[in-house]
Order: sequence, then structure tokens, then C-alpha cells
Amino acid sequence: GTEQRALFIIFGGTGDLAKRKLYPSLFNLYRKGFLNENFAVIGTARRPWTDEYFQKVVTDAINSEDALAEDATQFASHFYYQSHNVNDTEHYITLRNLADKLDRKYEIGGNRMFYLAMSPRFFGTIAEHLKSQKIVTTEGYNRVIVEKPFGRDFASATELNDAIGRYFPEKDVFRIDHYLGKEMVQNILAVRFGNNLFRALWNNRYIDNIQITLSEALGVEERAGYYETAGALRDMVQNHILQIVALLTMNMPASYSEEDIRREKIYALKSLKKYTPAQVQANFIRAQYTAANGQRGYREEEKIASDSATETFVAGKLFVDNENFSGVPIYVRTGKRLSQKRSRIDIAFKTMPTNIFAPQPLGQNVLTINIEPEGKIFLQINVKQVGQGFTLKKSHLDFFPTSNGKQVFPEAYEKLFADALAGDATNFTHWEEVAYSWKFVDAIRTAWDQHDYALEEYPCGSMGPVAADKLLARDGHKWFYTG
Ligand code: BG6
Repeated sequence: GTEQRALFIIFGGTGDLAKRKLYPSLFNLYRKGFLNENFAVIGTARRPWTDEYFQKVVTDAINSEDALAEDATQFASHFYYQSHNVNDTEHYITLRNLADKLDRKYEIGGNRMFYLAMSPRFFGTIAEHLKSQKIVTTEGYNRVIVEKPFGRDFASATELNDAIGRYFPEKDVFRIDHYLGKEMVQNILAVRFGNNLFRALWNNRYIDNIQITLSEALGVEERAGYYETAGALRDMVQNHILQIVALLTMNMPASYSEEDIRREKIYALKSLKKYTPAQVQANFIRAQYTAANGQRGYREEEKIASDSATETFVAGKLFVDNENFSGVPIYVRTGKRLSQKRSRIDIAFKTMPTNIFAPQPLGQNVLTINIEPEGKIFLQINVKQVGQGFTLKKSHLDFFPTSNGKQVFPEAYEKLFADALAGDATNFTHWEEVAYSWKFVDAIRTAWDQHDYALEEYPCGSMGPVAADKLLARDGHKWFYTG
């Protein structure tokens, strides 16, 4: 890659995300030459760490990336630590001095990336101080990367956005949705707009229904405090699932550019059919996991209220009411402690209008895009069985993307960092996308809060409550992915 010059200032530098994702991703960019001599990283957080200790944390974090010890040590030498209280103006002065010193030392030219990986309630005050204490440079760029959650409803997201927007223009705000950095999610646009075959069929005349499953085997782990106040709808549907919906249903952009793609994604999200409370009850199911297979139920988890009403699973049916998709049910589901970790999309096409092979049945054409654990595109077709006579059978066309014969995808954060360094926000969420997603989700959340609609249960290790199957059965459909 082309070498980029940048000073990263990471707020929340001692956190789990920084260690698990950010440092390893930066290291990969370093090994690939996107970062070389002219970069530095300042980690900040409350605790009083030394540079040496911080560098050790960083080398430990990248250890798993089968790093060469020399490389790792070289890389980590660019890391500096600053104990920081985000509400203390004095601390920003110290931070500015360190930033300016490192800028000179590594000849960075004033490019700054501010990574906000801490509680959103501090984003406003951080943005304000970055500006007032002149940590924002006049030479070079100043970009803010914002981690999720971006608000907990439309109102709080607006507040958050205004707080940042007062000091940073939209073009410099990079809102993370790490699903947009995943190789197979990025493949959606390639499949849709690179193949006339699919372009022609990608509408309500040929598509019968769409299914999106983001299932996880893990429980809430160490994030119970956050999760208990969020729930699956806010944690996964508002962002990842609706972003996938937008990519699947948006109209063709005029070009493959940030501006044109965004415009169409925004229209798609704006076209989401908003539900009345009665429609929420009919079309959305929430549920909680209960003890099974040696695993605790959600209410028995540490830091979770014993009468918690937080949903750990959501299934729903939604519609994008635009020219091409109105009338196509989009079934979505996500949950913790399901049977497997899998992220997958199924697009089911309508069957032939007449079947000349009757009474032999014709299978449905289904295009499956498997995002994880393995990346795969799979198209079910009907073919003739070899031999005498004429018997049909189901078969499939397969695409298993590899590079040098292996399927090793770059970590989502690595791709997103590279994009942000290059100033390309295509794979980040624009404020209007966030706004329309929240408006859709708020209608569901409000209906749940104001009515006592059922909170279903499902045993750990299952694929969710029976109600989630009934949701499709009612329409004569079933989940293609059964766990
Ligand atoms: C995060 C959610 O956004 O996505 C987590 O907050 C979830 O609860 C995670 O576990 C899933 O991401 P991935 O990449 O593991 O599918």
C-alpha cells in the first residue's frame, strides 16, 4: 500500500476493542506498508500507564498475528500513552504538546485521526476540547472515527451528532459499522451491480423473499452492563442488519463512489416501512435465552437483573417500500447463544410461472451469501440428472473467494482504517443513514415499551423461539438456514 502519514489519538486506548481489533489492524497496515515511518499513536484513558507498559500491551495484543518480534517492537515504538481525564482542560494541553512533538518527530504533517472508542456520553466534550485546545491542526486533515453505539434512539443520536457536528464537518466524521468492512458484505454490490443477470432479477417481480441471519453462539460475555440497556434490536438490527438491508435493496448508484452510493443507501433506509404498534406486534418477535446445555440463562448472568426484560434475540419481517422492493418480505433475525456463529443472507427467487416438468417439482433458486465464518456465494439451481430419462435434481453453483489459494480476509477494522486514512467514507455510515435507521427501530422499541407484547424464550444452543419460525410459516415460508 501507499504509505500514509498520520497521528492517531485513541480515546479508550486501554479498552478491549483497542486491544482486540485496533492494534492488530494497525499492525497489519504497518506490515503491508500503509504505515511505515511517519506515524504515531497516542493511547489515552484514565489509568496511569507508562509508555513502556503501553508498548508491552500493544505487542501482546498483536502477538496472535504471528508477528515477527522485530517488526512488532519497531511498530510498538511508535506508541505513546497519556493518562487523560476527558473533562479536564489541562489534560488537553498536555495532549496537544505531546501530539505536536510527535508530529515533528515523525514528520507527520498535521494529519490527525481521533478515534473515539469510549462511552458516547464523552464524545461532545472531547470534540469541543479538541477544537478549543487546538489539538485540531490547521495543516493536514482532522478526522474523527466514532465507534458504536451511535445513540440509543433517534433523539439521543441527534444530540450526539450535533455535539460532534458543532466542531467537525460531516465529511470528517467516520461512523464505524464494522460489518461494512467485511469482505463478503462488500461483495454484495459487486454481485448486484457487476452482473446483468442479477441486476435484471433483483426486484419484486423475481425475488420472493430475503432472509438475513446474524447468529452468535456467545452470550453477553463482559459487556453485560452495556447490553442490558441496549438489547439485540439496538445492538445488531439498527446498525448491521439495516446496513445489509440497504445494500441489498438500494437502487443502482450512478457510479461506484462514496457520494452516489450513500445517496441510494439513504433512500433505501428512508423507504423502510414504519410500523404501528399493532404491526410491530404482528411482525417483530423478541426473546431471551434460558438455561440449557450447561449454559446459564440470560437472567442468571452476572450484572443482569433477575427480572430483566432485555431481548437477546429479535426476529422480524420488514419492507423497503421502493419501486423495486415493495411487497418483498425481508425476514431478519439475530441473537446471542444460538446454535452457531453465522452471518448469512438468502435471496429466494420466485419459482417458474409454469412447470413443464410437472409432476416433478421444481426447486426454488436461492442465492446465499455467507458472510461468516466462511465467505461463500452459493446459487441453487435445477439441473437434469445424468442418464436415461429425464429426472430433475437440485444442484448449485459455488463461489469460494480466495487469495493465493487461501481464504484469509483482512480484518474489517483493517480495511476501514485504510479507508479512513485515504479519506474514503464509502464504508462508513452517513448521518442520514443512522437517522432513518433509528426512526425505524424507535417505532419497534416504543411499541415494546408501551405495550406488554410477549417476550419469548429460547433455550441456549437453539435457533431461537418457535415464534420466529411461525413468523415465516404464516407466509408459507421457512428459514433456509436452520442452524
Ligand atoms: C457488535 C455487537 O456490533 O457486533 C456485538 O455489539 C456482536 O454484540 C458483534 O457480538 C458481532 O460482530 P461479528 O463481527 O463478530 O459478527
